[in-house]
Amino acid sequence: MSQAHSGFTKQMARNMFYGGAVFFGLVFAGLIFDSERRIPERSNAQNITQAVINGKHIWETNNCIGCHSLLGEGAYFAPELGNVYKRRGPDFIKAWMQAMPTNAAGRRQMPQFNLNEQQLNDLVEFLKWTSEIDTENWPPNIEG
Ligand code: HEC
Repeated sequence: MSQAHSGFTKQMARNMFYGGAVFFGLVFAGLIFDSERRIPERSNAQNITQAVINGKHIWETNNCIGCHSLLGEGAYFAPELGNVYKRRGPDFIKAWMQAMPTNAAGRRQMPQFNLNEQQLNDLVEFLKWTSEIDTENWPPNIEG
């Protein structure tokens, strides 16, 4: 009978399935554990100041995320801002916020938020802090 002579039995297939499932399950659990273990050194949490907290509040209450993404999360109407501090620097960001909207023909527009000097500084501190989180280069494109 062909089945008796076959080198590959149902029993072997079953063992491969269960063995593979357990093996890769363990590999996956190991990778999760490794990622979790490294979060404290990557999160930049030690550099959260009151200014960073205030800046995050400004970020949230003005719905910046409704148009922008931050570290890949958010909307894709406007540029990624997780690395905008490194790309543009503090002076550009503050001048940008004050110059909105550009009303330039053919460009997407950003509203004027009327932030005062203190709020602009806090916002910059938040974006600086965000840019220093070790995301292992996520998102991969510098402009998001
Ligand atoms: C209604 C949508 C919208 C909202 C809300 C919005 N933005 Fe923007 N933002 C834009 C658009 C569109 C651009 C790009 C405009 C251009 O290139 O002419 C932009 C550009 C920027 C830039 C320059 C990015 C670069 O790469 O040069 C910064 C910084 C910025 N926004 C910060 C913010 C902050 C902070 C908030 C919240 C307080 C915010 N934006 C809310 C639409 C928005």
